[in-house]
Amino acid sequence: MATLLREQVTDVHHWTDRLFSFKTTRDKAFRFKNGYFTMIGLEHEGKPLLRAYSMASANYEDELEFFSIKVQDGPLTSKLQNIRPGDEILVNSKATGTLVNDNLLPGKHLYLIATGTGLAPFLSIIRDPEIYEAYDKVILTHGCREVEELAYRELITEQLPGHEYLGDVVREKLVYYPTVTREKFVNNGRLTDLLKIGKLERDIGLPPINPADDRFMICGSPSMLKDITALLDSRGFNESRHGQQAHYVIERAFVET
Ligand code: A2P
Repeated sequence: MATLLREQVTDVHHWTDRLFSFKTTRDKAFRFKNGYFTMIGLEHEGKPLLRAYSMASANYEDELEFFSIKVQDGPLTSKLQNIRPGDEILVNSKATGTLVNDNLLPGKHLYLIATGTGLAPFLSIIRDPEIYEAYDKVILTHGCREVEELAYRELITEQLPGHEYLGDVVREKLVYYPTVTREKFVNNGRLTDLLKIGKLERDIGLPPINPADDRFMICGSPSMLKDITALLDSRGFNESRHGQQAHYVIERAFVET
């Protein structure tokens, strides 16, 4: 049965005035697969105020990490953005999710498509040794409005490639593709548009996406989910439903408030 665990905030990091991350203690009984989400939040007026959040930490780590937007009039995040180390966070003990490799047919390249805080579940997945056993390349994309919103760049480009156990396989297989839409950067444009014209694949030296070789995990804004679904469907990819293996999976659990 699901219970509400009471965890303590151990660290808070503000990336921008719209984005922050925090870490909490982790009850040993809290188990999850990399890519899963759970309901977390605060006690407000004696009641739990909870929203779906992906774990941004890997399932073998001692602490939990979450990556959040700040919505100034959002019921939860207007309060959550003020948390400090020592504060209490409620964590539902039952985690779940669709962003797991078991839902995908075997393939060569795994594209992780994220906009904004949709990056969170993929931070967990790129620290999972099994994902690198399953694919020749794992392409972590991150679409943001501005460069400063490209959170976790240091983790992805420095810490993980230098990681004691994962470093070798990360350097061989993990490809990071950040792109920005509202200021100049090495990569510009929406991920959907870059895939549509084949620019993303060209930039990373891979063939145009095709259902025989490529698999997708997708997490981000509802409008991005809609557009990328239309694009993939038009190219012959099928979405995994009800745990049936297919070419792509989408996490639809999030509402940003
Ligand atoms: P854009 O600047 O063109 O709106 P947000 O911060 O609003 O969640 O957006 C995060 C990133 O997702 C931005 O770069 C934004 O681009 C992009 N984005 C928004 N809608 C879509 C969509 N339908 N398809 C692809 N990318 C999108």
